[in-house]
Amino acid sequence: MKNFTYLASTKILFGKNRVEEIGNEIAAFGQTVLLAYGGGSIKKNGLYAKVLQVLERSSINVVELSGIQPNPRIESVREGIRLCRENKVDFILGVGGGSVIDCIKAISMGVHYEGDAWDFFIRKAKIGKVLPIGAILTLAATGSEMNGNTVISNEETLEKRASGHDSLRPIFSVLDPTYTFTVNTWQTAAGVVDVMSHIFEQYFTLDAGTFVQDAMAEGILKTCIKYGPTLLDDPENYEARANIMWASSLALNGLTVTGKMYGDWATHGIEHEVSAIYDLTHGAGLSILFPVWMKYVLSDRTVPKLAQYARNVWGVGHMDDHEAALEGIDKTRAFFTSLKMPTTLNEVNIDDKYIGQMAEGACKFGPIGVFQKLGKVDVEAILSQSL
Ligand code: NZQ
Ligand code: ZN
Repeated sequence: MKNFTYLASTKILFGKNRVEEIGNEIAAFGQTVLLAYGGGSIKKNGLYAKVLQVLERSSINVVELSGIQPNPRIESVREGIRLCRENKVDFILGVGGGSVIDCIKAISMGVHYEGDAWDFFIRKAKIGKVLPIGAILTLAATGSEMNGNTVISNEETLEKRASGHDSLRPIFSVLDPTYTFTVNTWQTAAGVVDVMSHIFEQYFTLDAGTFVQDAMAEGILKTCIKYGPTLLDDPENYEARANIMWASSLALNGLTVTGKMYGDWATHGIEHEVSAIYDLTHGAGLSILFPVWMKYVLSDRTVPKLAQYARNVWGVGHMDDHEAALEGIDKTRAFFTSLKMPTTLNEVNIDDKYIGQMAEGACKFGPIGVFQKLGKVDVEAILSQSL
């Protein structure tokens, strides 16, 4: 296990009705808040009205940014920056899933930057002064509620790029599982796949001696396997929503990658290329790509970890590592299918037209991955095998 520094500074307000407490949390930073949200799900389920009521009780002025799309666009970020500057906003509150929270992080870093916010995503600008942010999570998936990462799409350039900094971790995040009762089957399942994928990205490395991190990772995967299917039949099951919600935060708050050099992140890099062009739901893209990636990177070097995964997570009994690993990969694909997630690009109407462009984009800053380094040719092969 390598030396590490671990910071998970976000205050988590977990459980029913914790939204009641956000007034005090925000008032510590000022009296004007940018309230950011998506396409209206929070209006339908009553959360919007509740948030306004709580903010009014603390005499907080509200400026609104609505209509943030899934795979959030740079235009929403620019609009948010304009609103923050014009209204001298003190704090940004995002109410929604990963897209809303990612968007407010990008706004937060752009407010005090003179250039265009897209510069942060193409490595042209370094993150400086940020506006404080908080989140009310309504969809368990990305872990954005407890990390400093943001992923933004640019439709003009057909790019989807990530940026991030510890200073972008939300000051607080409200995790009330009841707010996720209304998430539909597709988004719920995509969220479960995303949580599992975040664990995969940090679990499949060649680091040694990280038993405790691996055990936590395997526990989070088993949580998804236990409760994911429950949610498809029983969306208002509090225990299942609560476990998946906390799993989403734990899967990508830095915990399971402690003591390791890096996570792999190749599959996420490839998926972002797919969703940049096709606007595909992130978790659906991962459901297609991860089993293919696992098989592609299977080699003498990587087989012990893939076999460990198969045995500890899926209870595979094979003595032979290679056979065990293959069975673990098959079980992964079968599980995603059982969640009604796609496992081929064809299923979501994607053909081979842009494979070259996507591979180019994924390797824009050089080869990707650490479990197995992948160049453009490898990414093309993975995408072709995903058809
Ligand atoms: O826009 P509204 O009307 O709110 O509807 C949303 C949206 O259509 C809906 N939804 C959210 N909460 C709901 C609800 N519908 C009913 N009831 C509720 N309670 O769900 C749809 C999808 O929302 P979105 O926020 O896009 O989903 P998700 O949380 O999966 O976020 C995906 C985005 O996060 C990025 C992805 O690439 C993608 O752009 N990621 C961010 C990461 C991070 N910041 O660490 C890491 C991830 O790997 C990922 O890349
Ligand atoms: Zn993800």
